[in-house]
Amino acid sequence: LKRVRTRHFQNAKETGVKITGLTSYDQLTAAIFDAAGIDFLLVGDSAGNNVFGHDTTLPVTVDELIPLARAVAGAVSRAFVVADMPFGSYETSPDEALHTAFRFMKETHAHAVKLEGGQRSAEQIRRIVSAGIPVMAHIGFTPQSEHGLGGHLIQGRGEGAEQLLADAHAVEDAGAFAVVLEMVPSGVAAQVTKELRIPTIGVGAGPHVDGQLLVWTDWAGLTTGRIPKFVRQYADLKGVLTDAVKEYRGDVESGAYPAPEHEYED
Ligand code: KIV
Ligand code: NA
Repeated sequence: LKRVRTRHFQNAKETGVKITGLTSYDQLTAAIFDAAGIDFLLVGDSAGNNVFGHDTTLPVTVDELIPLARAVAGAVSRAFVVADMPFGSYETSPDEALHTAFRFMKETHAHAVKLEGGQRSAEQIRRIVSAGIPVMAHIGFTPQSEHGLGGHLIQGRGEGAEQLLADAHAVEDAGAFAVVLEMVPSGVAAQVTKELRIPTIGVGAGPHVDGQLLVWTDWAGLTTGRIPKFVRQYADLKGVLTDAVKEYRGDVESGAYPAPEHEYED
């Protein structure tokens, strides 16, 4: 199996074959998703919510994400692995951004990094790309700025469309190999996709984009609490695991487990 590389993303844009991505935070899911044919895995700072139990992604640190990214990158043989740069690890300057990107590339063997922001992050993207590190950009709703944006709000509506297009062009001009569009109206996402040479990856951006990305715990029915409108649940892992725990507990209490075949002989 040939490894997915940035040119696979570019080919997808040119041939119309869609790119499929999921988040992953550990080697078990990374190996399963990779073997099943996922194109790319994002070690997202959504680990803040899905691994560490925070309300937002803001408290996540580079030191927390590095072991997760290392586990994911070490488990795949085909998928392209993108490490997410957490809040506070790149905004201060292009030098800080490059320093953080170097840490992810050297300590995890991920294949690319992702950071949030359009025009405001363009110089950071340019500096990282100039060091030979592919950058996936992320515009539209950017969870690290949820307090500045005033909540989980759709971006790029009405007057916002112009800003979204300006951000999309800024990250393309800065050298990003792909751009995530999160929670934007389908029409605006289609416009961005048409105007850009690089592929667009939608997270709640409708069908007229070059690929899709979902948070795996939402997609697999593990997340508790509110699931965004744009998610389709492809499994009910919470139900499966809940039933399994109840059955296990019942078997232990009744003596049905362990059975003779589980015992060691003298
Ligand atoms: O951290 C994450 O999971 C993300 C995607 C939702 C885009 O950034
Ligand atoms: Na993220």
